Amino acid sequence: MRFPFYDYLFLCKFVIKYSQMKKFVRDMLVSDKVKLNDNHVLITLTNVPGGDVLPEMVPGQFVQVLVEGSPDTFLRRPISINDVDYEKQELSLLIQKKGKGTECLMSLSAGDKLNLVFPLGGRGFTFPAADERILLVGGGVGVAPLLFFGRELRRRGAVPTFLLGAKSADMLLERGKFEAIGNVYITTEDGSAGEMGFVTQHSLFEKETFQRMVVCGPAPMMKAVAGVAQKYGIECEVSLENMMACGVGACLCCVEKNTRGNVCVCQDGPVFNINELTWLN
Ligand code: FES
Repeated sequence: MRFPFYDYLFLCKFVIKYSQMKKFVRDMLVSDKVKLNDNHVLITLTNVPGGDVLPEMVPGQFVQVLVEGSPDTFLRRPISINDVDYEKQELSLLIQKKGKGTECLMSLSAGDKLNLVFPLGGRGFTFPAADERILLVGGGVGVAPLLFFGRELRRRGAVPTFLLGAKSADMLLERGKFEAIGNVYITTEDGSAGEMGFVTQHSLFEKETFQRMVVCGPAPMMKAVAGVAQKYGIECEVSLENMMACGVGACLCCVEKNTRGNVCVCQDGPVFNINELTWLN
């Protein structure tokens, strides 16, 4: 009897091949790895010699990486696209230690190969209209897709404002890169950097006006920020990080209930307007 896992793999390959948005399955080379703290590394990937150029990606999309070398890690891991440099043909991924899969990824070294399915996610962040001020709010490793979005906003002439939250100063990720492209406000739970407390408590909300917010981080934080957005009448999008297996709409393990019924976060998101979700009802 065939092991159903192979049927599952076949189904995923079928969906990747015939899905409307073009996706690629490709080996890439680790060109750099930087340890940010004990729980996070930043991996930069580049094309293998003679490989195709990077496809177009939009902020908010993600990749699924193959973790080799362990029977416990046969499912690909979904990782947000942290940054893209088309000129240098580089793609960055911010990895947080969560279990065996991410531990294997953290042990990669320059020169290693990593197999990716990408770009995944049918819906990224919405770019603001010319007269809209946008605030990008990130917590923990949730800051990852905001760097790519902020860079694209900057490329289009806007100066993005970031509100970044972490437990402590040493857990703030890529702060210098955010500061290089926009205005950065910080909260830490222990007060070791920025204002003490959670992002929802930052004085910025009382001092400045925004028409749009995007949020990525732990679910309780995103729900709290969604509440703030509702209070101030700000359009708000969140990037959901539901558990994922296939990443292409085949396994249904990422389903989220929204106002239209059940949707796949991997294909219909991962970015959703909070008014579409049932969080605030
Ligand atoms: Fe399989 Fe979304 S992860 S359907």
